[in-house]
Amino acid sequence: MSIQLHIHSSREVAVRCVAREIATLIRNQAHAVLGLATGATPIPLYQELVRLHREENLSFRQVITFNLDEYLGLESTHPETYWNFMHRNFFDHIDIPAASIHLPSSRVAAGDLVAHCIAYEEAIRAAGGIDYQILGIGRTGHIGFNEPGSPIDSITRRVHLDEITRQDAAPAFGGLEHVPTHAITMGCGTILSARKISLMAFGEGKAEIVRKALRDPVTDQVSASFLQDHPSAHFHLDLAAASAL
Ligand code: GLP
Repeated sequence: MSIQLHIHSSREVAVRCVAREIATLIRNQAHAVLGLATGATPIPLYQELVRLHREENLSFRQVITFNLDEYLGLESTHPETYWNFMHRNFFDHIDIPAASIHLPSSRVAAGDLVAHCIAYEEAIRAAGGIDYQILGIGRTGHIGFNEPGSPIDSITRRVHLDEITRQDAAPAFGGLEHVPTHAITMGCGTILSARKISLMAFGEGKAEIVRKALRDPVTDQVSASFLQDHPSAHFHLDLAAASAL
């Protein structure tokens, strides 16, 4: 099965399309389970979902969410934790119960890491698995924080962040030296278990890695290329992100 390609005239059109799919899922299915991503790319999607909540009565009361990843070692008050990112950009503006929100912890002690990661996998399974997974793509081709070399069947675990990924995060942290070196991420196998996956990529800066993920042979050097073998993987691109195809 190959990735289904959706090239949109603009980022706004792309996020409206993905938001509509999510809204349909939530309205048609009790306890829809969403896999959520961070980064700049999904912010307009969260804004559109908040708009649907406010203006079109889309309720998240029955929705369960699992985020892809979290930085390790940050204080819970640090503005760049993904927990804070998600609350600031999405959860604080909708009616989702706090108990339905799941992210790996940024503060888990070294001795508790394995148990924490296994518990995350089990929580996803107990919720019935992920119905709809949102993804962005990093410059290294990563999905979540699955850097080059991540196995296709990897599960939630602690990972070392690639230097390119840390450099991309440096402005938000006020310098490379403040960017965490490690994170917890869902594995490639965890992500590939989702029933439907939508990867969004916007702007010229994503064009080359999008081309590699879509057109080059599947390789663990570009974890997004694993999506080529998923039965329902979709790439939602704007014209600039599709310009190298
Ligand atoms: C981080 C996140 C990824 C995200 C990537 C790209 O590495 N862990 O989930 O896809 O950044 O971010 P952006 O959307 O800002 O380009």
